[in-house]
Amino acid sequence: MRFEMLLGYILLMYGSFSAALGGYVGINIGTDLSDLPSPEQVVAILRSHQITHIRLFDADNHLLSALSDTGIEVMVSVTNEEVLRIGQSPAAAASWINRNIVAFVPSTNITSIAVGSEVLSVIPNVAPVLVSAMQNLHKALVSSNINNGVKISTPVSMDIIPKPFPPSTATFNATWNTTITELLTFLRRTNSFFMLNAYPYYGYVQSNGIFPIEYALFQPLSPVKQIVDPNTLFHYDSMFDAMVDAAYNSIAAFNGSVIPIVVTETGWPWAGGANERDATVDNAEKFNNNLIKRVMNDSGPPSQPTVPMNAYIYELFNEDKKPGPLSERSYGVYFSNGTSVYTFNLGTSGDATVNASGGFCVARKGADAGSLQDGLNWACGPGQANCSAIQSGQPCFMPDTLENHASFAYNDYYQRMRSVGATCDFSGTAVTTMVDPSYGSCIFTGSTNSSSGGLVPPAFGPEGPPGNISPRQLPKIWSLLLVTVGLLVL
Ligand SMILES: *[C@@H]1O[C@H](CO)[C@@H](O)[C@H](O)[C@H]1NC(C)=O
Ligand SMILES: *[C@@H]1O[C@H](CO)[C@@H](O)[C@H](O)[C@H]1NC(C)=O
Ligand SMILES: *[C@@H]1O[C@H](CO)[C@@H](O)[C@H](O)[C@H]1NC(C)=O
Ligand SMILES: *[C@@H]1O[C@H](CO)[C@@H](O)[C@H](O)[C@H]1NC(C)=O
Ligand SMILES: *[C@@H]1O[C@H](CO)[C@@H](O)[C@H](O)[C@H]1NC(C)=O
Ligand SMILES: *[C@@H]1O[C@H](CO)[C@@H](O)[C@H](O)[C@H]1NC(C)=O
Ligand SMILES: *[C@@H]1O[C@H](CO)[C@@H](O)[C@H](O)[C@H]1NC(C)=O
Ligand SMILES: *[C@@H]1O[C@H](CO)[C@@H](O)[C@H](O)[C@H]1NC(C)=O
Ligand SMILES: *[C@@H]1O[C@H](CO)[C@@H](O)[C@H](O)[C@H]1NC(C)=O
Repeated sequence: MRFEMLLGYILLMYGSFSAALGGYVGINIGTDLSDLPSPEQVVAILRSHQITHIRLFDADNHLLSALSDTGIEVMVSVTNEEVLRIGQSPAAAASWINRNIVAFVPSTNITSIAVGSEVLSVIPNVAPVLVSAMQNLHKALVSSNINNGVKISTPVSMDIIPKPFPPSTATFNATWNTTITELLTFLRRTNSFFMLNAYPYYGYVQSNGIFPIEYALFQPLSPVKQIVDPNTLFHYDSMFDAMVDAAYNSIAAFNGSVIPIVVTETGWPWAGGANERDATVDNAEKFNNNLIKRVMNDSGPPSQPTVPMNAYIYELFNEDKKPGPLSERSYGVYFSNGTSVYTFNLGTSGDATVNASGGFCVARKGADAGSLQDGLNWACGPGQANCSAIQSGQPCFMPDTLENHASFAYNDYYQRMRSVGATCDFSGTAVTTMVDPSYGSCIFTGSTNSSSGGLVPPAFGPEGPPGNISPRQLPKIWSLLLVTVGLLVL
């Protein structure tokens, strides 16, 4: 009894932190293509690939409506053309918020607004009103009573960090000191985050062979090619980590508390012109898939190991109408018909049937065995999933694989606890699917063939529903539990 109450308390405590824990990979959606799918088709493609976070470069109202009730988290943008007017006019800001935010929340899950895109690099003359624009938008959100769920920030390019390596000595270009001071003050005051566009592709290409390509592609470095910051002695396994740390250190040079960084753009082109020989399918496939693995690992860069490195891949579709070198039109991970350009897995297979209702939670293909085992133990233990069907001799025991058993346990937990906010995550080892995973006499919970009927969520104790439980920090929960049990025994 006492133990159950403690468990409920620990889960609750943990639930309240979970929004800040755990990395996610989202995707940018540029729309400069000749055969852009309809908003409904775009949403179907997102769902079939289990994409959970997107960034739009504008606030296209048709797409925002099509995204309603999907749960997909949306970052909308104020375009660079709109920043000046919104910076000069609170009324223009209020009108923008009414048209593009108030009209769509909460059914469309808009969680942030990116104000402009690389304003300091692209339209430096607008810099003096950039933070005013953010403040005007924030005031309009406050007046509409939706400021808590929607964060405001502005994507900044690595261009304004002239010497990113070594990260420990990186600083912003001093030209922008006034704007950066205002920006950081605003982000702290509104509990928002710093948006960074960071492309190891350009860092690598512009370094003229100083860095090995493995470093840019998150591949292992040979012992003689380790990249170490001489001041901190931190080892940098990837240029992506180093870029994020360069931004953390540039922010730190302005003093004050740490502001979490979200990488709003990163990616690698899969085709390029004659002088863009590193823009290949092979490199793009390695970069994006390794990025996903890196982010899902949940650790931050060396200077901020506990702050996950959330990132948005650039980009969903190839934008064939963009000007410039061929690489600019070749960042897409999908063709406009929804098939992937190369093997690319944000979730599971891209061929899942699209179905708006229902949904199952299964182990992610290729998930790390240790994390799957932790997830399975958690689901069948504290998660209170009914794991009897995967015991030896029971219908779901065969095939006797960790992936199969974890899928059954994850799904049973998810079906029971979804209504009280549980997510299908399990440290990034789980994904949702619309395809019923049942086979033979092994019927997954929630299947229309299921006879188990009533899915009553088990009680976790007197404190009420545990909210957004997402068993990401399994080791932490277990160590808390062990400590607690130890104390009780003593
Ligand atoms: C929107 O996203 C937030 C953050 O992940 C989540 O807590 C919330 O439940 C989502 N809302 C809906 C309606 O899906
Ligand atoms: C800093 O930015 C200014 C204005 O864009 C530019 O002229 C200058 O060259 C930059 N300095 C460095 C060191 O990159
Ligand atoms: C700009 O800010 C940096 C970091 O705080 C500081 O070291 C530098 O002296 C400032 N430069 C100017 C010209 O104010
Ligand atoms: C940050 O703090 C250091 C040490 O107190 C000080 O020398 C420096 O001027 C401060 N920088 C800014 C931008 O306030
Ligand atoms: C997570 O990534 C960091 C940095 O690359 C690495 O040091 C660490 O070993 C990784 N952890 C796991 C569990 O893969
Ligand atoms: C999708 O589009 C690509 C590029 O145009 C094409 O190569 C591929 O065959 C198409 N796939 C389907 C299933 O139509
Ligand atoms: C979607 O799923 C629901 C419930 O699981 C089912 O009733 C419906 O027929 C499915 N729709 C399609 C198009 O498969
Ligand atoms: C667990 O599932 C089995 C079928 O696999 C069922 O017979 C049993 O009643 C279930 N137990 C609970 C507590 O729901
Ligand atoms: C459900 O049962 C029907 C009839 O036994 C069968 O045809 C169908 O394939 C089953 N569906 C699943 C998902 O197992």
